[in-house]
Amino acid sequence: MNILFMGPPGAGKGTQAAVVVKELGIPHISTGDAFRLAIKQGTPIGLKAKSYIDEGLLVPDDVTIGIVEERLQQSDCEKGFLLDGFPRTLSQAEALGEILSRLGSSLDHVVNLNVDRGLLMARLTGRRICSVCGTSYHLIFNPPKQEGICDIDGGELYQRPDDNEESVGKRLDEYDNKTAPLLAFYDDKGLVRQVNGENEINVVSSEIVSMLRG
Ligand code: AP5
Repeated sequence: MNILFMGPPGAGKGTQAAVVVKELGIPHISTGDAFRLAIKQGTPIGLKAKSYIDEGLLVPDDVTIGIVEERLQQSDCEKGFLLDGFPRTLSQAEALGEILSRLGSSLDHVVNLNVDRGLLMARLTGRRICSVCGTSYHLIFNPPKQEGICDIDGGELYQRPDDNEESVGKRLDEYDNKTAPLLAFYDDKGLVRQVNGENEINVVSSEIVSMLRG
């Protein structure tokens, strides 16, 4: 099953992707995670991406498309994959269509998480992430049992550098201007499934999993 998760920053794509890939046994491909790893490792792609990400702007298409093309060619994607955070522009969506068609594949579902813009800022500025396993928490909406510590592995929680008010504002504008129009692109292909991302995390997960299995 080839799935794409869409939705604005903070809609819960990463949170829900972690549940769905476990349920379906498919790899999670997140361009945001790939860039953050490249930044941590100090690779040329990481150095290029860092300035854009810190500013809350999209990384240029040529860099982003290359990463995804390479990843989709790996053998674990033959049984399916979940794309999170790609595509984010019309050029990326067209490139994805071409890459998949070369691989004899296509998208099966585009899951769009709907969350009111007013909630997104609070979700992102309160987000904390485990430095070991990457699990997302929230200071108020999804707190860990012990403050600052991951429930799963005891790792220290940190705040993403782009989760400040200024970057989040720009990320939301980038989403509205460049990414939201892709919904019409995929709707025309009959692929979009709408999900209310404002429900509790486990309610959203159950809805997505039963929709994908149904
Ligand atoms: P990326 O890492 O993809 O960030 P994003 O799209 O901004 O999305 P987020 O990870 O911030 O949000 P999410 O929807 O995953 O929310 P989460 O589940 O964590 O991209 C980062 C940057 O990389 C971009 O700005 C860009 O520069 C670059 N980039 C990446 N891909 C690119 C591309 N294709 N082209 C160009 N540039 C690219 O949830 C958020 C918070 O809410 C958490 O604290 C969570 O606990 C909480 N929460 C989640 N669900 C619920 C719920 N139902 N109820 C209450 N709280 C909830």
